[in-house]
Amino acid sequence: MTCMPAFPAPPLPIILDGDPGHDDAINILLALSGSESASPEFQVLGLTTVFGNVGLDRTTRNALIVRELSGVDVPIFAGADRPLVRGRISAEAVHGDSGMDGPDLPTPTRGAEAGHAARFIIEQLRARPGEVTLVPTGPLTNLALAFRLAPDIVPLVRQVVWMGGSTDTGNWTPAAEFNALADPHAAQIVFTSGVPLTMFGLNVTHQAIAHPARVAAFRALGTRVGEFAAVLLEFFAEHHRERYGWDGGALHDPMTVAWLLRPDLFVSRPMHVKVDLTAGPSAGRTVADVWNLTAPRPKGRGFLLRVPLRICAASGLARRPQGLQKHRSLNHSDSGASLAGLYQRC
Ligand code: BDR
Ligand code: CA
Repeated sequence: MTCMPAFPAPPLPIILDGDPGHDDAINILLALSGSESASPEFQVLGLTTVFGNVGLDRTTRNALIVRELSGVDVPIFAGADRPLVRGRISAEAVHGDSGMDGPDLPTPTRGAEAGHAARFIIEQLRARPGEVTLVPTGPLTNLALAFRLAPDIVPLVRQVVWMGGSTDTGNWTPAAEFNALADPHAAQIVFTSGVPLTMFGLNVTHQAIAHPARVAAFRALGTRVGEFAAVLLEFFAEHHRERYGWDGGALHDPMTVAWLLRPDLFVSRPMHVKVDLTAGPSAGRTVADVWNLTAPRPKGRGFLLRVPLRICAASGLARRPQGLQKHRSLNHSDSGASLAGLYQRC
């Protein structure tokens, strides 16, 4: 097992690719709060959007809203509006018609940049070889398109940190997690590309529940962003209460940025993972070889697929809000999120 990848000195250049989405929104705010501090942890190069929880028009609109709320000026590029091969699925049942139901959603005053998300990803990777971390929290279609359009960029990717898949059960079918099922062929392209990949599956994200006390911690920030996050999480909790009987929503997507901030809080293991591309009941399943049954445990670049399995209990997600005091956005403006809503239940 391993907890600690080697990270370069901050700020870490990252591109957030997602389908906001309640948990995507929290992830974006978390990353942007870490780009605004006096000693920034991230240089957020841009946000790229993809179809997923709802259609691309709405996921992009939601990204624009979150950007304005944060007060941080990052470019936003819209990407794929459909999967590579299969038909589109969406998750209004979880995220509401807007994809971010709950809070009042203002009309964004600024639009997305011209150009496709995949092109932006290609340009950024070529401009910063070996530096850029890609953080997808939706279907992997934009990454797959970029890798296919410009194979030269694959070795230039520092790493991919993805929320999707599962080592055990699914949440959209008994076998498949939503982001994996939404575009399994794209996942297959990224998984077999050779990029170092960390897969935050349901097996670990279901340990990060935003219990009411955590939601209250967001609200207690007394900021517009804190209130927005609290209302988002209250809406998100409803689905999790009905479906799983949990007292809060699972903070799937924020696990990615949380791991970049504090990899020591997670126990991970490298393993082989394959995506089921068949059309049967296991379609979209990420078949994870937890016990190295099909091949020896993978080592090094070439097939480094790291799968977080557990959030280390005592080491302190709960203490993290104090650690965030250095974020200017939390202290001196109404911008920024915190890890106040992230909590494990083991
Ligand atoms: C994933 O699917 C989406 O509904 C969430 O935003 C998350 O990325 C969880 O399965
Ligand atoms: Ca998502």
